Amino acid sequence: MTSLETLFSPEKIGNIQIKNRIVRSATFMASTEKYGYVSQNLIDIYSELARGGTGLIISGFTAADPGGTASPFQAGLYDDSFIPGQKKLVEAVHEYSGVKIAIQIAHTGRQGYHPKYHPVAPSPIPFKTTGLTPRELSSEEIKDLIQKFIDTGRRGYECGYDMIQLHAAHGYLLSNFISPFTNKRTDEYGGNIENRAKILIDIFTGLKDELGKNFPLIIKLQTEDFIPEGLKLEEGVQFAKLLSEIGFDAIEPSGGGGDAQILSKKAYPSLVIKNPEEENYFLSHVREIKQYINRSKLILMGGIKNPIFAEKILKDKIADFISMSRPLIFEPNLPNRWKEGDHSPAKCISCNGCYMTVRDGPVYCVTKKRLEKKAKRLSNSKKI
Ligand SMILES: Cc1cc2nc3c(=O)[nH]c(=O)nc-3n(C[C@H](O)[C@H](O)[C@H](O)COP(=O)(O)O)c2cc1C
Repeated sequence: MTSLETLFSPEKIGNIQIKNRIVRSATFMASTEKYGYVSQNLIDIYSELARGGTGLIISGFTAADPGGTASPFQAGLYDDSFIPGQKKLVEAVHEYSGVKIAIQIAHTGRQGYHPKYHPVAPSPIPFKTTGLTPRELSSEEIKDLIQKFIDTGRRGYECGYDMIQLHAAHGYLLSNFISPFTNKRTDEYGGNIENRAKILIDIFTGLKDELGKNFPLIIKLQTEDFIPEGLKLEEGVQFAKLLSEIGFDAIEPSGGGGDAQILSKKAYPSLVIKNPEEENYFLSHVREIKQYINRSKLILMGGIKNPIFAEKILKDKIADFISMSRPLIFEPNLPNRWKEGDHSPAKCISCNGCYMTVRDGPVYCVTKKRLEKKAKRLSNSKKI
């Protein structure tokens, strides 16, 4: 039998040891209490992931500002009232030996849709999905948001999170600054790559000042928009290089978002996969970025389902970790299943049925539920 020796070997991100190379990619589970407070259901979801053998769990989108939330059931940490619940969640994960947890800090930016808050963005570029044109942020407001990201990170640290991931992908606020399609600014936050990365660098520097240089900071990074006037991989690589040089401890390359889903008709970052050749769909991005990165760890995300393939990628040092979202919604126990010798691919069929449950929540695997119902029907009919 093929060994999964590398997949189940430890590796560090910054100074934090991860027990294996399996990361749960950030996944919004639409499962908090109203308005963003940790629920017992959310704690149970994370406990199940931790029990299932994942080495590093990245939390779902956690809002740094009330105006940057996408749903009343999305976690927030923009003030101290969220701390007790978040602390309980982290403690529940840490009960499982060696499992680490990162908090993903985010703001909806141009893709915001909120009854009370109009969306904001670096530039007023209309967003077709909501039909709204965001309000352009002033540079004072940008500085204010930078501070909110830093304050949210400090609260995450106080709650016991092992690291922080900035969500700079999928058309949300931080990626709006990266993309030349959504950032038309002429001040210090727009124009060349260094300026479009300034918000990320300022948050990074502020967090390091606040939390010390040893607390790991990682980033989910937009590396391609997949739309005609959007960010191209050549520039995405330059962002990754710059952010690695300033000291991000790990980079999880991603891409797409609301515009890609409309304009390219492809559901990036969560592609519908019909056959195995379509799996691992950010591999070419990671290969390209790898050439320019030597300090930051690389996390390969997107359509990872086959452990034999994951092992090869890790063994060949193309990536340092693999991350999964949808496969772990179907099978939170997937890492243990692989570790115990069942090396068949994830049962997730990448249909995006789970994505359709996001609006009303809680998120669940539609395919798994259908299969369970079918099995129940069959067993009932046998009893008759
Ligand atoms: C239900 C659902 C919720 C998601 N929520 C987030 C999120 O909060 N933050 C994020 O960065 N990505 C989010 N994603 C994207 C995933 O992290 C991942 O990048 C994408 O699904 C591709 O990985 P996969 O093929 O392993 O599912 C979400 C995806 C799904 C299906």
